[in-house]
Amino acid sequence: MGSAIHMPYKLLFVCLGNICRSPAAENIMNYLIEQGGLSERIVCDSAGTSSYHIGSPPDSRMSAAAFQKLQIKLRGQARQFQKSDFENFDLILAMDRENYQNILYLDPTGKYNQKVQLICDFCSRHNLKEVPDPYYGGTKGFDLVIDLLVDGCEGLLKQLKREQSDF
Ligand code: 4NP
Repeated sequence: MGSAIHMPYKLLFVCLGNICRSPAAENIMNYLIEQGGLSERIVCDSAGTSSYHIGSPPDSRMSAAAFQKLQIKLRGQARQFQKSDFENFDLILAMDRENYQNILYLDPTGKYNQKVQLICDFCSRHNLKEVPDPYYGGTKGFDLVIDLLVDGCEGLLKQLKREQSDF
């Protein structure tokens, strides 16, 4: 994640549509950041690799799962990932390998390679390596997204606290 300390440290969560997984990740991470009193130090955004849902709010099924499990409301409006995000964010967290690849295609020289990681690499209670796309499935899929993201975001926050000693 690099040794330079940026204030605030900027995280970008990325999925395909930016209406299910990545807005859930953004809002869950914000919830954890607020609980930890770190709102001045870490900021979050989210984006989709596709243009399918630009301008749309989070999917109502994703919002229902987040509210049921964590009592949080999902805020946001979908936007598409863009090349300038490589410069504007310190760390880019992809939900699955396809998102990861599609992000890296936009960085052919590999300059920002180290900034792009999979959120599941920060999980400690789950073995899944990707956050499965819940869009065409049922309620269980959305619940799993929340569980994986809480695990991944908690792990990520711990790692940031270790690395950024003044957090
Ligand atoms: P997300 O879910 O990538 O987690 O936002 C999806 C949303 C929309 C579609 C696929 C996945 N779609 O095909 O429209």
